[in-house]
Amino acid sequence: MEPNANRLAQRLAEAGQSHLLQFWSELSPEEQADLTLNLQEMDFQEINGFFKSAMETSSSSKNEKMDNRMEPVPREVLGSVTRDRESLKDWEQAGLRCISESKVAVLLLAGGQGTRLGVSYPKGMYDVGLPSHKTLFQIQAERILKLQQLAEQKHKIKCCIPWYIMTSGRTMESTKDFFLRHNYFGLDKGSVIFFQQGMLPAMDYSGKIILEDKGKLSMAPDGNGGLYRALGNQGILEDMENRGIGFIHVYCVDNILVKVADPSFVGFCVQKGADCGAKVVEKTNPTEAVGVVCKVDGRYQVVEYSEITLATAEKRSADGRLMFNAGNVANHFFSYSFLKDIVKKYEPKLLHHVAQKKIPYVGAQGQLIKPEKPNGIKMEKFVFDIFQFAKTFVVYEVLREDEFSPLKNADSQDGKDTPTTARHALMSLHHRWVLNAGGHFIDENGRRVPAIPSLKDGTDLPIKCEISPLVSYGGEGLEEFVKGREFHPTLMIDEHGVHELVKNGV
Ligand code: UTP
Repeated sequence: MEPNANRLAQRLAEAGQSHLLQFWSELSPEEQADLTLNLQEMDFQEINGFFKSAMETSSSSKNEKMDNRMEPVPREVLGSVTRDRESLKDWEQAGLRCISESKVAVLLLAGGQGTRLGVSYPKGMYDVGLPSHKTLFQIQAERILKLQQLAEQKHKIKCCIPWYIMTSGRTMESTKDFFLRHNYFGLDKGSVIFFQQGMLPAMDYSGKIILEDKGKLSMAPDGNGGLYRALGNQGILEDMENRGIGFIHVYCVDNILVKVADPSFVGFCVQKGADCGAKVVEKTNPTEAVGVVCKVDGRYQVVEYSEITLATAEKRSADGRLMFNAGNVANHFFSYSFLKDIVKKYEPKLLHHVAQKKIPYVGAQGQLIKPEKPNGIKMEKFVFDIFQFAKTFVVYEVLREDEFSPLKNADSQDGKDTPTTARHALMSLHHRWVLNAGGHFIDENGRRVPAIPSLKDGTDLPIKCEISPLVSYGGEGLEEFVKGREFHPTLMIDEHGVHELVKNGV
């Protein structure tokens, strides 16, 4: 070994990670150089420290249920699209004003690996099979464009909603390339800012880093809460400051219904003087495996279904709703100053969560082994870990059918959160928009299709209908296209006009 490699070997020995060089003599010079480079960039003391504290908190929290320490979200911090209808217009106007002043940015969490969906490319590039075949990225980009336009029209001033896109080592190049190929979907290139979250090695239960190949460590993104570290070390906070951003809407790539920079949500949070806000949908089924926003020991946080007993999950308030019903949809509002405090002061205090995983590894003979049982952990921070630091925290409740349909899994019979459920959710929302704007659908015999689709072949098939975000952001402005008219599905309304793609149901 050369001096360089010797020094590295010494560092690894000190950190108890010498096994990472066990195949050194079998590696080609290029592989040796790659491995050396990767290892030199790593801070083993820090990684070992993360492992130690993550394992400690995970084992101390395992047997302790949260039930007795939890309180539901008080009504005074809650805004609701169904219960506060009289304030909605006000909130929307307030949000649009902030957008028109170019004070609102959106931040997309797109660094996940999408293992459950099982495609090799970033999830935002997925086409769920809409009539337009738009990808999730394109839908979101067009919503941003439309919202800029709405704010500009209202306030007669040019504005911009910068779009920060967090990717990981695995998704950065393909994401950037995709945007370039699609000319940023019409957005200003300078206002789409990519940045990269950190990666951490997978470790076995004794804290040894796992090798996935003779010369390659098993690495994974450090969770969507890796956002906060990345905001600091990738210069994103400065970029926001330079642009004069005051408010940031953070959301996940996989929700096809996401209202990017939702003016009502932003306006509500701003009017309440909030530094941090969470959008939620009502949890109606006690056993639904969704995290709920609530207070624990007086501080806001998301409590996972697995952390409470069934008795608590089933508790109801006087109005008959579940007591802990604020279902987290990973859709957050942050003020710039709050984010800055998080990055500068609080981020290092956040502990990693432990996810036990089946992690492929290289065996003593150099062969790849795919374990049947979890054999190690990945360490992740979560985007909502910072709620506890908020001084004024608010919660905004929206309708699930209007705003939340995540794409998590590949299609399967009766699958949940699949391309099919996402596609259906979007088309059924757009169907309702058309009906609300005074349009109607007719079948192949010219008969009006009932507003609530009937069960056909045992499946609840929505009317095929898609409205481009370039035409309508949230159902507004459709009367001129549809009022008093009848359409055969498939109906598409886009910037070129109204199209009936398949006449007579063929
Ligand atoms: P999920 O936890 O659903 O993970 O991410 P995923 O990567 O999409 O899918 P699986 O679990 O591998 O099947 C929720 C959101 O957080 C982002 C994802 O891109 C998604 O928008 N995320 C997740 C990150 O940005 N970074 C991460 O390290 C993990």
